[in-house]
Amino acid sequence: MTQFVVHYGLADAARIGAALGAVLGAGDVILLSGDLGAGKTTLARGILQARGLAGEAPSPTFAIIQPYAPPEVDMPIGHVDLYRIEDARELVELGLDDYLYDGALLIEWPERLGDQGWPGALGLHISGEGDQRILTADVPMHWEKRWPL
Ligand SMILES: Nc1ncnc2c1ncn2[C@@H]1O[C@H](COP(=O)(O)OP(=O)(O)OP(=O)(O)O)[C@@H](O)[C@H]1O
Ligand SMILES: [Mg+2]
Repeated sequence: MTQFVVHYGLADAARIGAALGAVLGAGDVILLSGDLGAGKTTLARGILQARGLAGEAPSPTFAIIQPYAPPEVDMPIGHVDLYRIEDARELVELGLDDYLYDGALLIEWPERLGDQGWPGALGLHISGEGDQRILTADVPMHWEKRWPL
């Protein structure tokens, strides 16, 4: 595991999301953590746009999962927000693992479920406020060769 730190403003968020989206592959899980309004959905949007999404990606806060599939994007992607999840058992009903055969998961608020689950995931933690944010990335071994930032 290697840690990278990137300072970025809103204007850079789309480019960072695009760089991450370009190297995303089937079976990948990206965990997006950080306080309310940190910029998790903003990065997820950049990733989805890199995979072909033309329209605006809604925040999945209320739906919990926003599914994307070809031809809208070039592989299945589940954009998930666990903020409203109260019990790990609710997770089973979401069928998240099904995405990982040929697609990927972008998961906001993974800390709602403690440390369990998703070993090997790319961990992106966003902190800071105002017009600059700090992205701290925990890059697992199988991401290191393709880490784009
Ligand atoms: N790097 C950045 N610099 C400045 N502002 C940013 C940056 N990234 C995102 N923002 C702004 O922060 C606000 C919140 O962003 P966003 O909705 O992505 O946060 P979030 O972490 O998904 O929030 P939530 O916890 O509610 O899901 C938006 O107005 C967005 O434009
Ligand atoms: Mg969000």
